[in-house]
Amino acid sequence: MCGIVGYVGDNQAANFLLDGLAKLEYRGYDSAGIAVFDGENIRVEKSVGRLASLRDKVKDDTPVGTMGIGHTRWATHGRPCDRNSHPHTDCHGDFVIVHNGIIENYLTLKEELQAKGHEFRSETDTEVVAHLLEDVYNGDFEASVREVLRRIEGSYSLVFMSKANPDCLICSKQDNPLIIGLGEGENFVASDIPAIIAYTRRNYILNDGELAIVKKDSVWISNRQGEPVTKKVFEVTWNAEAAEKGGYEHFMLKEIHEQPKAVRDTMSARIGKDGKSIVMDELKWTSEFVNSFNKMYIIACGTAYNAGLVGKYYLEKLARIPVEIDVASEFRYRDPIIDENTLVIVVSQSGETIDTLAALKESKRLGAKTLAVTNVVGSSIAREADQVIYTWAGPEIAVASTKAYTTQIVLMFMLSLYMGELKGTIPADRVAELVGELQKLPTHVGETLEDVEPIKTFAKQYGYNDDVFYIGRSLDYHVALEGSLKLKEISYIHAEAYAAGELKHGTLALIIEGVPVIALATQKDVYEKTLSNIKEVKARDAVVIGIAAFDDTELEKYVDHVIKVPKTDELLIPILTVIPLQLLAYYAAITRGCDVDKPRNLAKSVTVE
Ligand code: M6R
Repeated sequence: MCGIVGYVGDNQAANFLLDGLAKLEYRGYDSAGIAVFDGENIRVEKSVGRLASLRDKVKDDTPVGTMGIGHTRWATHGRPCDRNSHPHTDCHGDFVIVHNGIIENYLTLKEELQAKGHEFRSETDTEVVAHLLEDVYNGDFEASVREVLRRIEGSYSLVFMSKANPDCLICSKQDNPLIIGLGEGENFVASDIPAIIAYTRRNYILNDGELAIVKKDSVWISNRQGEPVTKKVFEVTWNAEAAEKGGYEHFMLKEIHEQPKAVRDTMSARIGKDGKSIVMDELKWTSEFVNSFNKMYIIACGTAYNAGLVGKYYLEKLARIPVEIDVASEFRYRDPIIDENTLVIVVSQSGETIDTLAALKESKRLGAKTLAVTNVVGSSIAREADQVIYTWAGPEIAVASTKAYTTQIVLMFMLSLYMGELKGTIPADRVAELVGELQKLPTHVGETLEDVEPIKTFAKQYGYNDDVFYIGRSLDYHVALEGSLKLKEISYIHAEAYAAGELKHGTLALIIEGVPVIALATQKDVYEKTLSNIKEVKARDAVVIGIAAFDDTELEKYVDHVIKVPKTDELLIPILTVIPLQLLAYYAAITRGCDVDKPRNLAKSVTVE
C-alpha cells in the first residue's frame, strides 16, 4: 500500500518520479505527489485522484531539480484529498518526507508537537514525522533522522529530504518494503522493482531497521546502531517489458494469459530428469525431517488463502499430515497451538503482506519450522522464513491476483508430492502418473484460455445482476471461493461462494428467479451430491452456468450453460476451472465499465494491518 520513489542524480528528478509512480500506482491510487529540490528550494506538488491528475497539474510547469521524492497513496488516516496527500512537510518546508505504513503513536507525538507550536495541515499520521524531524534537528541530518526513528512506533518505509542537505536522501524501513536502485551517477529509491527496472536492474534491498544515505554517486547503509552494513547487490532477472501491458488492455488480462508460461516456469525445474518425480533443490528435506511434523498450518490472505485451501487438500491427501489453515489476520490473535514439530507454510504473492509477515514472525517465536511460498525474490516474507520456495510467475501488477493463484497451487501440489514421496504415503506409480499430468498442464491452461467468446457473452448477459452465487463441493468449493472473490473485487457485484451442501441451511432463501449461480461439478466422489444441489437451485429458477470436466455429459441436462475444461487429473482441475472464473470476472468488470486493474478501495500490496 502506497508507493514511494526517490531520485538523486544529474537528470531532472520529476521525470523519474512521475514515471516511477506510474509503475507503482497498483500500490495505491487515491492521490499522488512529488517534491523536487532545485538546490535552494523544495517545491511540492500534489493532487487527489489518479496520477494522471498530478501529471496534468504539472505538465506545463514541471518542478525543476535533480533530487526529489514522490508518493502514490492508499488512504489510511484521513480521506483522500490534496491536503492529506504526500509528500508532507514540517512548518517551514525545510523537511519533506514520504511514508508507507502507519505511525501508531502519532496522536501522542502530534499533541506534544502542537503544544510546542507546530502547525499541522493534514489529518494523516505521516505529517507528524516531518514536524518531529524539524523539532529534533540539530544540524546533523543523519543523527536527527535516527532520533525520529527512535521515537516513532509502527510500520514504515520513509524517505527524508532536507533543504539544508542538498546532496542526499535518507531512507529507512520497518515492516514495509524499500529498495535502492543503483545507477551510474544517479541512484533511486522505490517501494518495488517495477518503478526502477527501466533504469537499473541492480538493487540493494533494505532490511528492517537499516538506514541508507543515498547520494548521486554513493549509497551508505548502516544498521539501527549506526554500524555500517555491507550489502550484496540484488540483480533483477526480469526486464522492463515484463512489467508492461504488452499489448493487452489491462494487466489483469495479460496476467491471465501468462498462466501457461507461469505454470511451466514454476514447475519445470522441479521435475526430475526421469520425468516421473519431484525434486526440490531449495529444500533438500529428508524423510526424517518430514516425519518430524505432526501438524502443519497454512497461513495467508485473500487469493493466497484460497490457494492455501487447495494446498491443505493436497497435503492431507498426498502427504497425510493434518493441516490447519487460517487467514493471517486471525491466526496470530487466537493463541495457536504450535511447537517445534509444526511446519507453518505462509503463502504470499508479494511477500510483503503485513498480516502474513506478522503471522510468520509469531510462528517462529512459538518455535515452528517455517516455509514461505512466494513470488517475490528477496521480499520480507522470503527473508524471514526458514526456507522459501518461489512461484516463478513473473511480476503480477493487477490488483486482482490470477497467475499467482495458479502457480501457488502448482507449487503446493508439487510440495505435497515431494513430502508424500519422502513419507511413503503415495505409491511411486501414482507419483509418476501425477507428474505426467502436471507436465501437460501448461498446454491445458493454454487450451482453456482459447474459449473466451462464451464467457464474454455470459458477462454481458449477467454483468448487471446484483448478486451472483458460486457453489461446489470439495476442491470445487475452494475454486468457487476464488471465483467469487475475483468477481466482487473487480466488478463490485455482490458474489458469494458456498459449499453446495450448505445452501439449504440458509442461503437458498436468496435464490430466486434469474439469479446467476456458477456451479462447479468436477469432483467424481461428490458429483451426484453436487448435481442434487444444482437441481435445488434450478427448481428456484436460478440461471445456472456449470463448470465441468471434459468428459462430462450429464451436467448439461440440468443447467443453462456449460463450460468444459480440458482433460486432466481431478486433483489438478482447480488450475483449469479457475480460468473461466477469472475471465468471467474480468469481462463482467469491463461490461460494467470498472477500472479492472485498480479496483476501488483496494491496493496490490497490503502492508497495513
Ligand atoms: O501478496 P499476497 O499474496 O500476500 O496478497 C494477499 C491478498 O491481499 C491478495 O491475494 C488479494 O486478496 C488479491 N487482491 C485478490 O485478488
